[in-house]
Formats: sequence, C-alpha cells, structure tokens
Amino acid sequence: MTLTSQPTTERSRPGDHILALRGVGKKFGAIQALTDIELDVHAGEVVAIVGDNGAGKSTLVKILAGVHPPDGGTIEFHGNKVAIASPADSKQLGIATVFQDLALCDNLDVVANLWLGRELTHNASLDEVEMEKRSWTLLRELSAKIPSVRTPIASLSGGQRQTVAIARSLIGEPSVVILDEPTAALGVAQTAEVLNLIERLRERGLGVVLISHNIADVQAVADRVVVLRLGRNNGDFRVADVSSETIIAAITGATDNAVTRRAAHKTASTSIVTEASE
Ligand SMILES: Nc1ncnc2c1ncn2[C@@H]1O[C@H](COP(=O)(O)OP(=O)(O)O)[C@@H](O)[C@H]1O
Ligand SMILES: [Mg+2]
Repeated sequence: MTLTSQPTTERSRPGDHILALRGVGKKFGAIQALTDIELDVHAGEVVAIVGDNGAGKSTLVKILAGVHPPDGGTIEFHGNKVAIASPADSKQLGIATVFQDLALCDNLDVVANLWLGRELTHNASLDEVEMEKRSWTLLRELSAKIPSVRTPIASLSGGQRQTVAIARSLIGEPSVVILDEPTAALGVAQTAEVLNLIERLRERGLGVVLISHNIADVQAVADRVVVLRLGRNNGDFRVADVSSETIIAAITGATDNAVTRRAAHKTASTSIVTEASE
C-alpha cells in the first residue's frame, strides 16, 4: 500500500459507476424512514445529499456505513450486487464514512489518530518513522494546513480536526468517502479549507457523498445534488444547471414530485386523525 499512488486507479477510472442504490427502504418500527431510494455515485464526482431534518439523510448514510441494514432494494458496488451487513463490510468494500462526531482521540497526536487501529509495525514494534512519513505525504497531497503531525488533536482547530478525520478515512484506500455535515460547526475560513479538501478527494478519483445543510457549500463544491424529502427522492440536479431557489423548493416541498406529495398528504391526514382522537 502506498499513499502516494492514486488510491483508486486500479479499481476505478473517472466517471466509473461506483455505487448504485435502487429501491432502498428502511423502517424503524412504524416509521418509514426511507422509501424507494435511488442514488448513484461515480468516480471523481461529488454528490451532495440535502434535505430537511428528518428527510432520511443520516439513515441513508448509516445504511451505506453498515450501521443499519436496509429492509429492501439493491445496492451495487462497482457493478456487483452487495450486502452491507456491518461497518466492517462497508470498510471492506471501500466505503469510508466520516461521521459528524469525527471520533478522534483528543489526547493523541495526528499520526496516532491517522493510523489508529491500522498501526504499521516493524520488528514487532510500532514503526513511528514510517507512519510519520506517510502521514506527511498524505497531508501534503491533500494540501492540508496542519502545523505538525506530532500536535495533539486537542490543540487543532475545528477545520484541522475535520481534515485529520477525512485524511484518516483515506488510509484504507476507499473508493467512496461519505462526509456527514463536514462544515456544520466551522467558520468561514475553515469551511473554505474543508471545501478545498473535498476538491482534492475528487481529484484523487474518489466518489464523494457530501451530506449538507448549506446550499452555498453544495453549490461551491458538488457536481450533483440529490434532494431527499420525507424519506424519498425529490430531485437530482446537476449543480451547474440549477438555482438555489430550485434546490430549496425541492427540499421544502414546493416542487414535490407526485409520490412525495401523496406521502406528505397521507402523513398530514394521519396527524390530523391522531390529534382529533386525543
Ligand atoms: N434509530 C432510529 N429509530 C427510530 N426512528 C429513527 C431512527 N433513526 C432515524 N429515525 C427516523 O427516521 C426519519 C429520518 O431520520 P434521519 O435519517 O435522521 O433524517 P435526517 O438525517 O435527514 O435529519 C426520522 O423520522 C427519524 O425520526
Ligand atoms: Mg441527520
């Protein structure tokens, strides 16, 4: 494994269809969190997933990360039908997920965090020299602004932590990286840094799935935007061809498709019945 090589060249070329979801659904008890979801991700493409609270974004991420098994539908990875039954399955396929809490160890330095659980060894002891060297290489390739790889995570800014978490996800040489709200807690300058980093991921030929609430971020960095509403697809736009008004209208339901309109109507009438019976 070399981190200097383009990690996905053997597995995918720009434009290759990496991930295809068809008819994916997920129920939690009586709650239908996702219905009939379609999602496509290609190599060298940033796909933003947007939607209101409760639209199903996190549930979709968790299905891809192997946290929740889907109830139905199919998932194809590099053209093969796959089952993602556990987080280990997801990683094994080449899907890396950076969750919102980042899961970094504050007291450990950048090198230790990057290699946590995948430490390199030499003669049965940790190969600190090699891990440090590869850490520098990776961070340089990502144009990351980290002062020293021996800095403890606790003393890094929010943007730098996000950078370390994203860099760590690349150690396993994935072909898809999923980022859940990577800029939600960041100021303007740090957001710009993370958006630059997302562009580096695209240049490496990765498929990037970006969950976001921020339409400006989406327009700045995504190639395509997929809108979820009430657990269903409600639009799939090329970012270059779509206005923020159109995206927002799809999020809020001003431009529902017939299926989501019907679902919203049903939900509304159910809640009226519930209220009336209370
Ligand atoms: N573990 C769970 N148990 C029960 N319901 C859940 C669970 N996770 C999500 N939901 C429900 O599924 C729907 C979609 O939620 P979620 O995927 O978190 O949406 P988003 O991330 O877009 O805000 C919501 O109605 C939410 O309450
Ligand atoms: Mg969520």
